[in-house]
Amino acid sequence: ARTRTELRDALAAWTLGGADPTDRRAVVMTMGALHAGHLELVRRARAEVGPGGQVVVTIFVNPLQFGEGEDLDAYPRDLDGDLERLAEVGADVVFAPTPDVVYPDGDPIVRVSAGRIGEVLEGAFRPGHLDGVLTVVLKLIQLTRPDVALFGQKDAQQLLAVRRMVRDLDLPVEIVGVPTVRDEDGLALSSRNTYLSAGERDAALALSRALRGGAVEAEAGHGAAAVLATASGILNAVPDVVVDYLALVDPDTVEDVAGDHTGPALLLVAARVGTTRLIDNQAVDVV
Ligand code: PAJ
Repeated sequence: ARTRTELRDALAAWTLGGADPTDRRAVVMTMGALHAGHLELVRRARAEVGPGGQVVVTIFVNPLQFGEGEDLDAYPRDLDGDLERLAEVGADVVFAPTPDVVYPDGDPIVRVSAGRIGEVLEGAFRPGHLDGVLTVVLKLIQLTRPDVALFGQKDAQQLLAVRRMVRDLDLPVEIVGVPTVRDEDGLALSSRNTYLSAGERDAALALSRALRGGAVEAEAGHGAAAVLATASGILNAVPDVVVDYLALVDPDTVEDVAGDHTGPALLLVAARVGTTRLIDNQAVDVV
């Protein structure tokens, strides 16, 4: 479906086609250039709603969440390849609109604010990014009217912001988080990995290595400060990795945990390798 009418018809066809009132609709929102991480979300969506449910995938490179000087124009696009991959994993409907379909009046005047969540970590380096994400996520929820929406833990702050929006604004949708899909060597799959040269890809492995190192430190009972020191040491040993932030945060608020913190926490990293900006994170248990 390219237009709102085509989407409406595709959604209605399912209902009119005899969907049971208990059958549910799941949506997976993406910006396309689909990789195995995206496809895992689609498989999980099918598992959520079952064979009688409807799985809707949206593909839309949302201009609102790209800042000045970011890669909006260069962002990889491959609609034909995406449609092939989605047919293989059994998506029922693909909504791939152009910006004028999503934003018929141009940039929206009224937007969603991620509040404090949008100002720290990613928000500090990408001002307005999470507001742009939440605004399009809310619009896509309204347009597709899902019972359940799935998001990757790869973008942990985004997942948290979406969960908060649903709670704070009483949206009638269930949010499911899906674990990060990685290459065998540990690199978290990302559409932006296609920007990396072979050498840069090697350097990029420092991110997942640092997170694993931090998690091991936490399990060993060395405390929050040691977790950060170990992860930071691994990152700094690779000169081609320029760290934007490395943080150990409360998984519910993304605020930094105290040095004497114990219990669950989220270790987050963002770094640039060449001109490519990468993020990754891992849940750790500080004992
Ligand atoms: P995009 O980066 O295309 O990601 C779409 C969804 O796939 C997000 O929920 C993301 O967390 C998930 N994802 C990406 N890489 C993953 C991986 N390696 N393992 C598991 N899940 C992964 O995130 C966006 O698009 C946009 O901000 C969007 C939510 C679509 C709003 O425009």
